[in-house]
Amino acid sequence: MSAAKGSAGGGASEPAGADAATDADRAGRPVEGLDAGAARREWARLAAAVARANQAYHGADAPDISDAEYDALKRRLLAIEARFPELAEASPSGQVGAAPSQTFTPVRHARPMLSLENAFSATDITDFDDRIRRYLNLGPDAPLAYTAEPKIDGLSLSLRYEGGRLVQAATRGDGETGENVTANARTIADIPQHIAGAPAVLEVRGEVYMSHADFAELNARQGAAGGKTFANPRNAAAGSLRQLDAAITAARPLRFFAYAWGEVSEPLAATQFGAIARLAGFGLATNPLTRRCDGPGALLAAWHEIEAQRATLGYDIDGVVCKVDDLGLQARLGYRSTTPRWAIAHKFPAELAWTRLEAIDIQVGRTGALSPVARLAPVTVGGVVVSNATLHNEDYIAGRSATSGEAIRDGRDIRVGDWVQVYRAGDVIPKIADVDLSRRPAEAVPYVFPTRCPECGSEAVREAGDAVRRCTGGLICPAQAIEKLKHFVSRNAFDIDGLGARQIEMFYADDQLPIREPAEIFTLAARDGAKVTRLKNRDGFGEKSVKNLFEAIEKRRKIPLNRLIFALGIRHVGESAAMLLARHYGTWPAFEAAMTAARIGEGADWDDLVAIDGVGAVLAASVVTAFHQPAERALIDRLVAHLEIIAVAPPQAGDSTIAGKTLVFTGTLERMTRAEAKARAEALGAKVAGSVSAKTDLVIAGPGAGSKAKAAAALGIEVIDEDAWLRLIGG
Ligand code: IVH
Repeated sequence: MSAAKGSAGGGASEPAGADAATDADRAGRPVEGLDAGAARREWARLAAAVARANQAYHGADAPDISDAEYDALKRRLLAIEARFPELAEASPSGQVGAAPSQTFTPVRHARPMLSLENAFSATDITDFDDRIRRYLNLGPDAPLAYTAEPKIDGLSLSLRYEGGRLVQAATRGDGETGENVTANARTIADIPQHIAGAPAVLEVRGEVYMSHADFAELNARQGAAGGKTFANPRNAAAGSLRQLDAAITAARPLRFFAYAWGEVSEPLAATQFGAIARLAGFGLATNPLTRRCDGPGALLAAWHEIEAQRATLGYDIDGVVCKVDDLGLQARLGYRSTTPRWAIAHKFPAELAWTRLEAIDIQVGRTGALSPVARLAPVTVGGVVVSNATLHNEDYIAGRSATSGEAIRDGRDIRVGDWVQVYRAGDVIPKIADVDLSRRPAEAVPYVFPTRCPECGSEAVREAGDAVRRCTGGLICPAQAIEKLKHFVSRNAFDIDGLGARQIEMFYADDQLPIREPAEIFTLAARDGAKVTRLKNRDGFGEKSVKNLFEAIEKRRKIPLNRLIFALGIRHVGESAAMLLARHYGTWPAFEAAMTAARIGEGADWDDLVAIDGVGAVLAASVVTAFHQPAERALIDRLVAHLEIIAVAPPQAGDSTIAGKTLVFTGTLERMTRAEAKARAEALGAKVAGSVSAKTDLVIAGPGAGSKAKAAAALGIEVIDEDAWLRLIGG
């Protein structure tokens, strides 16, 4: 099996993990010492890295930093946000996944599909237990049971049964809206079409995954047929489920474990353990390693027990999910914005191995980034043969942080010939964690990072504050042009059937009928003259496939604004940023006019751009630059001339009665703690403030309310008691 082979190769785009390792190193440093300026700068970098990783992981089935690294980034981001809450508003830390792909019909989940908070140590688990006890006002000795379940490394799926019949299956998407994959889900043997004795409405949630054996066989089959191979079972499962043609899904060996539920018309049981048993009774596959635990000690024992079986299970798990067993308590604990308070994912450490570094290659990405790739003597890491790994950037190789210049790995540099420690965490490009100096060959010399682009010879420069050295060749650099084109046709951009990465490389090199910029995709048929004739008989093209390709291109002349903006491949503009811009400007003419008029850092157009919630100065400057750089602008103009761009509507306001309102709680609440009340209010879209002001919409006053209730009365603000509050939020 050579699953990870080439996963760091093949023309990586932006090295999303470029500075991730150094950020992970900083994750242990106290946040308290940061001043507001340093916090904002670090936050901006972390937020961008997390957003990029979210996009890569959920949107493109192609993760590019390890789970452990992602978790470290996110922990640090959350720690900074906890200390500087004003930063949290535009943060990706609350975002579960990427926006759904537009190739499937969107499905709004009846109950959101959530993510889990992570734990990495025994202390995190005892803290979790303490937190829950505090929230519920339980003493340290009161009984509090949990379940421990393997955390399956696949993709989550929600199955809706009405009257016992499977009526809909949806992926998680962004947690609120997923993709309708009903036809595909029906082809999975573990998913029953009918459930006898099910509640009238039953939404089953669980994980679609692929076993190691099935994954290896699928890759072998795909490889033999010249098709796409997958980096790991998770990607294979995601790629197989999200097929527009359900017949392809049917041919893929997918499996499903049920572990949760969404909307149900009657309770399944009184406990998590009982509910899982109920799901098993309905004929659904549930994980046999699920345990009931009487406290944090038992949770930790179960974690060790499950970890010991990890290598022999035959499918990937990346931790143990701990859940409060009593469903009544789960309901009281409720949710934060994207994670339940009653559950936590206790992750396993990343998998490691030592091997020799044979060479360092440089790949040039879409934005010109020079990414060093380690070529390794093949080594098995957690059941996968690894021969490539990312080295992030030149500072990482040299043993220092790209941002602070501080030593990493105690300053040990990495040289060709060294023995290096490789790690991977399930589903990403492997990384080099460490180097063994005692095994360094005498002739090994420090690596000299190139200052010229290996693809086009242009100077490669590193701007202040950038971890990455970039080729300055722009569109004359074939590597950049090809990567931009690949991005342009990729699934979440123009998604042109029959025009994938392989065809882009072929057309780029073709002298008779080349595609060297996006506009040329749309002139291809016309340039082919007598249609079909010239393309036919070329690499894999027959009459029918040429016709199909032309049709697929025609179909994409009409494109939603957000997809177009994303497809342009502007640095820092991922799918979610593209959507923010599209929603704000609505139409292409409005967007184009604003970007043309905008000047970086000044004027009304700039202010309007950076005022968009979620658009920071770095992103804004990148977009404005793209529109002011003559060659890039001309390329955009040539492209747009061939398109019909669909306007995007602004987001709808929330419809809960307290959504958007500012509330103040005062006095003693008797039916729930303050924390619980605040969380419920926020979940319904309200803001909770600490003091009464002219901006307050509603005050909830319990017994003992004093000055705040008086202030509210003086300002003419409505004051209600706890019962009225409960009625307002639906009990
Ligand atoms: S419970 C409200 N249980 O992990 C909580 N999730 O990182 C819903 N996952 O989105 C999740 N195994 O895709 C739960 N036994 C398990 C799981 C599990 C895998 C996945 C799931 C979730 C993700 C969060």
